[in-house]
Amino acid sequence: MAFKHWPIVRDVRFAQKGGRYLRGARKRRPDLNWDEFHRIARHFKQDDMGSFPERGYLFQLASDAPADAQVIEVGSWMGASTCFIAGGLKGAKAKIFAVDNFQGLSTCGEDAAWYSRHFQQLGANSTLEIFRKNFADLGFTPRSEPVVSDSLAAAQSLAGKRGTIDFIFIDGDHSYEACKADIAAWAPLVKKGGVIAFHDFGSRADGVTRAIFEATKAGRFEAIVGVAGTIIAFRM
Ligand SMILES: C[S@@+](CC[C@H](N)C(=O)[O-])C[C@H]1O[C@@H](n2cnc3c(N)ncnc32)[C@H](O)[C@@H]1O
Repeated sequence: MAFKHWPIVRDVRFAQKGGRYLRGARKRRPDLNWDEFHRIARHFKQDDMGSFPERGYLFQLASDAPADAQVIEVGSWMGASTCFIAGGLKGAKAKIFAVDNFQGLSTCGEDAAWYSRHFQQLGANSTLEIFRKNFADLGFTPRSEPVVSDSLAAAQSLAGKRGTIDFIFIDGDHSYEACKADIAAWAPLVKKGGVIAFHDFGSRADGVTRAIFEATKAGRFEAIVGVAGTIIAFRM
């Protein structure tokens, strides 16, 4: 096992990085429930899909959504980003639809090797049960609705929600074609004034960056809301 994965080393790194991040976050946004963020972060100590600033920004975007917000996430994997969003939501009717095939299937060749290594380690061929367990452990089950489906098929089945969604987070297939298709399929579901955010903007997943640039130039988004790490958020 690599040195950085030793439990004691991991715990020290988590305490240092988390402590630094939380000190800044509490100053910047004293109105948000950072204790709740910390509770979720502790649960996902071993997660390697996002940084503190990225997880914190998702939590902030969800906290800024109205009460009883309706949220969609495309690409949930084991539910880490989904839980940070769920933790920020308020209101008994707030709901996050977590769209994923839960099989790491994507058209992005580079991703395929990464997922295949992970599934071998997991000894399973789906992350759905892990997703459900993470939600249950954190007490968020009533806020989640997993949608086990290909992204574009899910966009069709949820088409009745056109113009009603408060916040969409897209982190699914990272190829250019798929991200472009996701923007076309999902953006119309966001209500006017709602937020659409993407992971991996400016990352080595250059297809995602290109698809977002094109959509921005084409005037698909009203204004930029903010950036944290490789997350970029727009107002519709
Ligand atoms: C990078 S992971 C998501 C990570 C998660 N958002 C997080 O930060 O914890 C991408 C996910 O997208 C899913 N995915 C990729 N292409 C998809 C597609 N066409 N339809 C549905 N899910 C897809 C994969 O199964 C994988 O779970």
